[in-house]
Amino acid sequence: MPIVYLSGVETLRLTIRSGDNLTPETPAIAECAAILRRGGLVAIPTETVYGLAANALDRAAIARIFEAKGRPAWDPLIVHVSNLEMVGRVAAEFPETAQKLAQRFWPGPLTLLFRKSANVPSSVTAGRETIAVRMPAHPVAHALIAAADLPLAAPSANRFGRISPTTAEHVLTEVDGRIDAVLDAGPTEIGVESTVLDPLRTPPLLLRPGAVTREQIEAVVGPVELYSPPAQAASPQTLASPGLAARHYAPSARLVLIDGERAALLNAVRKYVDSEGERGQYVGIMAPDDWIDETTLAAGGIVLFSWGSWGDWQQLGRNLFAGLRYLDKPGVSVILCPLPSAEGMGLALRDRLNRAAQN
Ligand code: TXA
Ligand code: MG
Repeated sequence: MPIVYLSGVETLRLTIRSGDNLTPETPAIAECAAILRRGGLVAIPTETVYGLAANALDRAAIARIFEAKGRPAWDPLIVHVSNLEMVGRVAAEFPETAQKLAQRFWPGPLTLLFRKSANVPSSVTAGRETIAVRMPAHPVAHALIAAADLPLAAPSANRFGRISPTTAEHVLTEVDGRIDAVLDAGPTEIGVESTVLDPLRTPPLLLRPGAVTREQIEAVVGPVELYSPPAQAASPQTLASPGLAARHYAPSARLVLIDGERAALLNAVRKYVDSEGERGQYVGIMAPDDWIDETTLAAGGIVLFSWGSWGDWQQLGRNLFAGLRYLDKPGVSVILCPLPSAEGMGLALRDRLNRAAQN
């Protein structure tokens, strides 16, 4: 008998345009909801990045997420809900600190840890007692979760360790043929993953900075502590947040961060154009508006990405991952990128860049 190897699945591409009606009967929403209800995988837009969604209560569907991403079993998933009742389906209780934060920041890019309910397969939380939950603000994500009437586990829709996708094209670059469908609603608004906070600890522990800033959280619940993963490699199970230790969000080219402003970047450009040029390679630059002068341009040897206006961390956040992907092409051996300051959302940008630059 011939051995038949299963080939990849055909990934369906469905589109929602701005202005489209968003009801459970909207064809793209209805189709994705049906796929999710029968245990399939759908990449969905959220306001942060595209997520790879499956029914959080279906063990087999969860296993498919880990397989499609090549994600290690020790890295827990975030569960997405469309209303507070759904939190009760996945969490054992809703403590006061979490209630205050949810009231202020949901729907939005803030993920909170809760004590896990016994309903949820342990693979979702990688065996942990806590479960990460957020209510996305994206109207399409919201409509889909409501239509499926399911809490959806959804990590970012990239292969493990790679850059998170902010468009449906990025999603297909990562997981085409490995998932059932992608729901394309255009580029995401925020561009970096949600803030992850553990409010069960005193003081609350900020595990991953994001668009809901430390300053905004502190205005609601008082001082929070900033998590810093140990410098030495530790076993992921022992970390407060295992996904945050590894090299992550990483392009293939070497990412060199410049902790200084325009003059420091231009110095680095000259240096690397010389060294990389000798090897026939180009230098990619995450270039803030108006930082690259005529002389630098005329010298050649560079590939530019127009990153946005320096100091506008929202705009730079929106373009960050698209820029790293754009510059990460054959012939570009080094990507130079100036580091934002640690205030507000700048903290999230620094965090992603520092991890993308790790060896
Ligand atoms: O914006 C986002 O959060 C996106 C969109 C799709 O919602 N999702 C996302 O998921 O970034 P993911 O899986 O790529 O990142 C989730 C992070 C990981 O670093 C994981 O280790 C951490 O959250 N995490 C999840 N559950 C946790 C838990 N119970 N305790 C500690 N950390 C947890
Ligand atoms: Mg991720």
